[in-house]
Amino acid sequence: MKGQILKALRECDGQLSGQTLSDLLGISRVSVWKHIQSLKSAGYVIEASARGYKLISSPDLLLPYEFTELEQEIHYFSEVGSTMDVARELARRGAREGTIVIAESQVHGRGRLSRQWFSPQGGIYFTFILRPGISPVYAPRVNLMASVAVATTIRNLLGLKTELKWPNDVLIEGRKVCGILAEMEAEMDAVNFVNLGIGINANTSIHQLEDKAISLKDVLGRAISRKELLRALLTEIRQQQPLLMEPALLDEWKKLSATLNKYVQIVVPGEVMVGRAIDIDTTGALIIEGRNGSVKKALAGDCIHLREEARNASSGGGQSAVLNTQDGADSS
Ligand code: BTN
Repeated sequence: MKGQILKALRECDGQLSGQTLSDLLGISRVSVWKHIQSLKSAGYVIEASARGYKLISSPDLLLPYEFTELEQEIHYFSEVGSTMDVARELARRGAREGTIVIAESQVHGRGRLSRQWFSPQGGIYFTFILRPGISPVYAPRVNLMASVAVATTIRNLLGLKTELKWPNDVLIEGRKVCGILAEMEAEMDAVNFVNLGIGINANTSIHQLEDKAISLKDVLGRAISRKELLRALLTEIRQQQPLLMEPALLDEWKKLSATLNKYVQIVVPGEVMVGRAIDIDTTGALIIEGRNGSVKKALAGDCIHLREEARNASSGGGQSAVLNTQDGADSS
């Protein structure tokens, strides 16, 4: 109902009387008044005069009723441990595909490889529950789909050039603006659910972020509307979903990739691979060509883009030359 009241107030030029709202929405005037009070306490500035209500300003909060047609799917928290934990419980209890957990901040936000994901207010943090009818080997494609969706949305909405770093970072000017974490529960041959966690450095300040990270606010020199960005991103994800198993997804990822044709170092438990990233396969694995022409696949891991000097060091034969060349590595 609040979503509909906001919509009506935004669409009208001047004021809307309590009676008009009550007729429009089929609820009593008292009920209209109660919703208006609740909107005001959430931070909406609504002027009430003899002629009716007028919306003066809205807070940039990711409240469910700001996403009208998705309102019922959204679980909203002003602060939470991690949206991944909430979504996991919901998914295990049978929440349907398209359920979304949003938080304004997280106290235990987590990233890939057991890292912490710093989640102060101003960023965008959410987890989207997917139930794709695919084999678990193709689950990494969900990361590709999400990163393409984020990169496309930022480019279309804000006009910024975005690139993708395998497996699933979104970069602007070579620095990380968005991280994606996919957690899956599956049987041997069928995915039960994949929870897609997305964290975007939106209006976070550069001083709050780690090295090699950047926020949209830093790049643009102004705060962005987080709800507009999230609205566009959720629409984009829903549009990309049917393409999950299509070759077009891989083509899109390749077009946006900052990793392909670069010399990379991939660190997986017990192994370090160094070589040129030449392609991705249909499961989303990165294909790497070593100096000696050997070809390997990385299914997951930490990817470091190597700079020229580190690449040359690697041609000396020893991997250790590369591994110790911290200055030559460009990681995030
Ligand atoms: C990474 O780059 O390491 C992935 C970061 C993923 C962060 C998001 S924020 C929303 C969701 N909740 C979490 O705790 N993590 C993901």
